[in-house]
Amino acid sequence: MAPVIINLEKRKIKKIIILLFIFIILNKNDAFSNENGKILSFVAGCYGCHTNNTEKPFGGGYKIKTKFGVFISPNISKDSLNGIGTWNKEDFIKAVKKGISPNNRPYYPAFPYNWYVNMSENDILDIYEYIYSLPAISNKTTNHDLKFPYNIRELLWFWKFIDKIVSNKKDIDNSKQYKRGEYLVNSVAHCGACHSPRTFLSIIKDYNNLSGQKESSKILNDAIPNISNDINNGIGLWSNSDLIFFLQTGIKPNGDFAEENMSLIIENGTKYLSLNDLKEITKYILKNNN
Ligand code: HEC
Ligand code: HEC
Repeated sequence: MAPVIINLEKRKIKKIIILLFIFIILNKNDAFSNENGKILSFVAGCYGCHTNNTEKPFGGGYKIKTKFGVFISPNISKDSLNGIGTWNKEDFIKAVKKGISPNNRPYYPAFPYNWYVNMSENDILDIYEYIYSLPAISNKTTNHDLKFPYNIRELLWFWKFIDKIVSNKKDIDNSKQYKRGEYLVNSVAHCGACHSPRTFLSIIKDYNNLSGQKESSKILNDAIPNISNDINNGIGLWSNSDLIFFLQTGIKPNGDFAEENMSLIIENGTKYLSLNDLKEITKYILKNNN
């Protein structure tokens, strides 16, 4: 009798171990996709731009001052009344990639969908899941305070039309395999939204050019440095570890701290990136293989 009992016990233990194993794997997968959504929601700026009060994540109300007036970010928490709680996944992908609302109205490009157009749908859905995993925030945000004629939303159709002709941005090209660094810089983290030169109506001609903006508005004093690998005007003399350290801590090779918007981009964004992703970003910007 004894060996049979022992065998039974062994089988039971085996079963328990296998179940435990499956349980761990399933939970790990969940945790992983949620973790990806969380990190990307920081790196893409969704959290930073849509959070005015850290106790109300994604509750909106953050002010973006531009020469066209002040934009006030909407509540994108899962609250059904004041947030996006009634949206389905397709609505969310359309807004993020195309800049068009569920009832087909155009969004202002202060919401950087022109960069997110090349984000993978899986990454966007991970962000959606992450936002939906958090509590609903009932914060009601106010309207943008824009100057005439920028306050006429319908004119954005015209803007989108000109933007398409003038810029080199292509619509989503699924066949293109982005390298990780290029994907993070030119799509998710949208470094060019600030570091690329802009022409009339804030249109960006070349999305891959990170040569900076000379002071574009006297009132806002918003000159932005060249971060291309140019030795004289850009950051061509920075080493890869200089740039990685900067994107983690905000400290430059000369000991200065990042200022203004850049410190927020680091604080709410790039410092959450894995070392591997930071290495890929650096290789892409400094155009080397170190
Ligand atoms: C630089 C600031 C900024 C960043 C970064 C940003 N947004 Fe926004 N977002 C805005 C603004 C401003 C609007 C309002 C646009 C308008 O009224 O046309 C907006 C609108 C939206 C809307 C539409 C909400 C509604 O009620 O119609 C969604 C959804 C959204 N953003 C999600 C995201 C996600 C997801 C990310 C990250 C992948 C993100 N945003 C990153 C500024 C930002
Ligand atoms: C919201 C606008 C904005 C975005 C987005 C942004 N930056 Fe910046 N960045 C700035 C501003 C403003 C400065 C100048 C302030 C300073 O040097 O402290 C700056 C400075 C820098 C500098 C220092 C350059 C120098 O010569 O001192 C580097 C490097 C940099 N940014 C890299 C990046 C990278 C990489 C990304 C994308 C992951 C990025 N930035 C996204 C606004 C932005």
